[in-house]
Formats: sequence, C-alpha cells, structure tokens
Amino acid sequence: MGRTAKFISPLLTVFLAGCATLQSTSNTHGPAARNIARLSHSMSITFVITILVMWALLAIALKKNPGDLKEHMPIDVGGGQTWVAIGGIAIPLLVLSVFFFLGLDLLAGFPIHGDHGAMDMGSMASKSKPDILIVGHQWWWEVHYLGDPNRQVVTANEIHIPAHRPVNIELRAADVIHSFWVPSLHGKVDLLPGNVNFIRLEATDPGNYIGQCAEYCGKQHANMHILLVAQEPAAFDEWLANQRKPAAEPSTPDAVAGKEAFLAGPCSRCHTVRGIPAAGQFGPDLTHIASRQQIGSDSFPNNNAYLEGWITNAQSLKPGCKMPAITQYNGTQLRSLTAYLRQLK
Ligand code: CUA
Repeated sequence: MGRTAKFISPLLTVFLAGCATLQSTSNTHGPAARNIARLSHSMSITFVITILVMWALLAIALKKNPGDLKEHMPIDVGGGQTWVAIGGIAIPLLVLSVFFFLGLDLLAGFPIHGDHGAMDMGSMASKSKPDILIVGHQWWWEVHYLGDPNRQVVTANEIHIPAHRPVNIELRAADVIHSFWVPSLHGKVDLLPGNVNFIRLEATDPGNYIGQCAEYCGKQHANMHILLVAQEPAAFDEWLANQRKPAAEPSTPDAVAGKEAFLAGPCSRCHTVRGIPAAGQFGPDLTHIASRQQIGSDSFPNNNAYLEGWITNAQSLKPGCKMPAITQYNGTQLRSLTAYLRQLK
C-alpha cells in the first residue's frame, strides 16, 4: 500500500496541479481525436476477436485429431482448401479492405495537404488561412497569433484556443524535427525544418489539455510539454486582447528595480518584452509571462522559487537547455527581477 501510494501520489499531484485532463488518446475532446480513437478501438476489438477465433479453431483441430505428426502421415495434400480460401484469403481481404478505406476516410478529414496546396498557390480561401503559427524549438514552443496583422502577438508553450470551433494552425521548426501532439484533440503532426505543415484543432469542451512533443529532438525532448487551454470564445477573446497589450509597467519599488535589473542584465539579448527595449528572439517572449501557468515549457510551476531557480541555474532543472546560468545578480536584485516578471500579467 505504502509503495503504491508513493508511486501514485506524484502522478496525482501532476494531474491535479494543472487541473488538466488526462493525456490519453482514449480521453477525446475533439472530432479528430474521436475519429482516430473510433478507428483504433474498432481495429483492436476486431483483432482480439480474430485471435480468439484462431485459438478456438486450433483447439478444435487438436481435439478432433489428436496424436503426433507421424500418425497423420502422409499429409492429406488436398484437404482444407476451402478453409484456406475463406479463412486465409477472403475474410482477411474483406477485413483489411474495410480498415484501409476507413483509414483513408480518416485521413481525408485532416486538412494538412489541402491547406498546404492552397497556401502555396496564394489561394484566397480564407478558411485555410492559419490562425496560429507554432514554431518548435529545442525545447519549447513559440506561438504566434496571426489574426490581425497589425496586432499580432507571440507567446510560448501555453496555447490558448477558442472551444467549439476549428482553429487552423501552421507548424514550422526552427532547428530539428519536432512533433505536435495533444492526444485528447488530434493525432501527431511533425514540425519539419524548411517545410510547413498544418493541423486543424477543435476542442468540443473548454478545458486544459496536456500535450507533448512526440518526435525525439534531443536531450530535453521528454520535457517539451504543451499546455493547450481551450476557452469559451468570449474568455478567449478577452485573453487575446490582454496578450495584445504591451508589458505592464511596474508599480511597486521592488518591481521598478527589477525592470532596471532586467534591462541592465543579459535577459533582453534573448527575450522580448513588448513595450520596453527588450527584443531578443532566441528565447520565449516574456511580455505576459506571469499570465502563464508554468515555466520551462510547462515543466515547473510559475512561482517565485522556480523563476529564481530557472534564472540562476536552469541547467539543474532542465540539463542541456539553452538558458544559461545567470549568476551576476545578488539576492536583492534577483528578488526584484522576479517581482518584475511576476507582474507581467
Ligand atoms: Cu521537440 Cu521532441
């Protein structure tokens, strides 16, 4: 009991901490995931039935003709041809054909190729224009909200979408191959360097959905998490309107000092904070970092302790990640810096 509890409690903590739904292909909340689950479940059931029938036939044959091979010599050369024709050719052909066409039908529901072509030809079909661009990096997700060309926003790792409607997403890679996968909503689609892929996400229920990079992409591949937040459309619009605002001006003396520390230090060389002279493109955009639930590609809670740990020694949290150890701040400066970041809501 003790051992089981020891094993289960961290899982429960992770599960409850984000109040997110289970990361499972069977826990579906979107049409694409539902179609995939339906096909894979019917395949599994069919193949289990096939195995049971095969074992039953084998048992019957063994019971009907007991004895070893020598007793049955010479082998009945012409026997059982009907069995072979029906059980070995006709039925498998029928079953596999049905699954082949169901598979084609499933693929036809994916927008990837159609939209790709439409984009290349500069088609005016507005429905195939992407709403969001996601760029995979080692080891985080850069997320652009394309909608209004003059008011585009960039965020990272926590991807908000409106529920109940399809959202077109363009997928690109900045370095190596990654794969975008939120099992409750959709199958995997790769992000390829030098290529563009598409995915259409639709969440039928608002909620937090956990996802994961599904293509090995280096040392921190396993920690390249996705938090997909599907919101009621009104709540989503409110969220997007807030993201479009420039960074909040610090109001407490601590946060004011933190902003100065941010600009004086190396932070702005890699990170953007819209509204202040920080336009680095290498790491995640921090304009509204305090609005995000987690840090480090959804690996750690977004609180003062983890932020300070991340700034001073990200390598201890995610070995191999591209965030260097920033050791130049003293304790007071570090606390000011996190006070500034924590009010970037
Ligand atoms: Cu990115 Cu695995």
